[in-house]
Amino acid sequence: MDKIVIQGGNRLVGEVTVSGAKNAVLPLMAASLLVDGWNTITNVPKLRDIETFKILLNHLGSEIASDSPEGTLKIRTKDVASPEAPYELVKTMRAAVLVLGPLVSRFKRARVSLPGGCAIGARPIDLHIKGLRQMGADIAIESGYVEVKANKLKGAKIYMDTITVTGTENLMLAAVHADGMTTLENAALEPEVVCLADALNQMGAHISGAGTDTIRIEGVKELRPVNVRVIPDRIEAGTFMVASAMTRGNVLIKDCPYNYLDSLNQKLKETGAEVNQEENGVRVIGDWPIRSIDVKTIPYPGFPTDMQAQIMSMMTIASGLSVITETVFENRFMHVSELKRMGADITVDGRCAVVRGVKRLSGAPLMATDLRASASLILAGLVAEGKTEVSRIYHLDRGYENIEKKLKALGAKIERTKE
Ligand code: UD1
Repeated sequence: MDKIVIQGGNRLVGEVTVSGAKNAVLPLMAASLLVDGWNTITNVPKLRDIETFKILLNHLGSEIASDSPEGTLKIRTKDVASPEAPYELVKTMRAAVLVLGPLVSRFKRARVSLPGGCAIGARPIDLHIKGLRQMGADIAIESGYVEVKANKLKGAKIYMDTITVTGTENLMLAAVHADGMTTLENAALEPEVVCLADALNQMGAHISGAGTDTIRIEGVKELRPVNVRVIPDRIEAGTFMVASAMTRGNVLIKDCPYNYLDSLNQKLKETGAEVNQEENGVRVIGDWPIRSIDVKTIPYPGFPTDMQAQIMSMMTIASGLSVITETVFENRFMHVSELKRMGADITVDGRCAVVRGVKRLSGAPLMATDLRASASLILAGLVAEGKTEVSRIYHLDRGYENIEKKLKALGAKIERTKE
């Protein structure tokens, strides 16, 4: 297994380009199931989750081809052999449940493993199921699988009790062929939801309101294949912004989706960092001492839960006390114990973490526990004294393309080695 070794202490300086967004590619790959014909997705990053989704689509019977330029994915699904997402795939990547909507929509049936708990919380899919039921689907839970049959889905008014990103996407994917109008209330506003709605509309769907909390989908009979470019990854961009601010760096982040990062921009400015939009991207200039800030994660456009671990890492070396509140997931503080092993002073009480800034972190051997936690440990390693070794980085490879190469090009002393 690979590990990342970092010798801390270098400022990051230079330019880095943001890759396509993982959380936008996966729903687009799922959407390709809706039509017979070659769909083209461009700006696709090389990530383990995308490889896992390809395996799932292959398993369902899709044909997949890569094309030039690099990062182009072509997908065609003439028919599905068995409309099933097996446990082995869903357990490694929850987003596999995104095939549920399109399979029911086009092939009238689906069998998808229930995801079960994961490191950051219970993460049920009850709202996906409830929505499909309201659209007239016949649903049974059997042997850990949700089995859905629906000869014809009917439009429905669906209120989602909790804001759910993949839940909103799944129901949108299901509703495109339903009879009549489906309204999703309390829908997720994330840019990745809008990216999916735009692609579906290009395919011939009638979707309005994406990007607001009420999305209307008027069912259509026919869809056509799509050619779509994936939006840049706001979480990868945000991670580099924090990396620059934290290391007293000066980094130009190219292809940075500045407009999707308002909450982070404002929070970084509160810490004393400069964040400026330039013609080619966003420049973040960090300065010490870093001012402590309080952060609360909230669904978009609030501060992203996927940036919570990284901002906490920054707060460990800030000049005061910071309260970080996680409201989206119930158990997303696994990075705390690893940061404490580097000398961070953090107390967790339920969904709140109190971080008292320390003068220095010291390098240590660390274990990555989930995707964004891994990124926070790498950031901590960049500013720590001495050597930090982060193992179990398969989590990192799920969502960051070439992170060590990108950081190295900015001046970090970082290597990927074998355990
Ligand atoms: C997506 C993102 C993930 C991000 C998360 C929150 C993808 C592939 N992943 O995950 O990176 O961290 O949004 O921004 O886009 N919930 C229910 N019932 C449901 C569905 C969700 O109670 O049926 C709860 C979850 O347990 C969680 C909250 O809703 O507490 C938000 O989860 P959700 O938005 O669904 O996360 P994902 O879509 O899985």
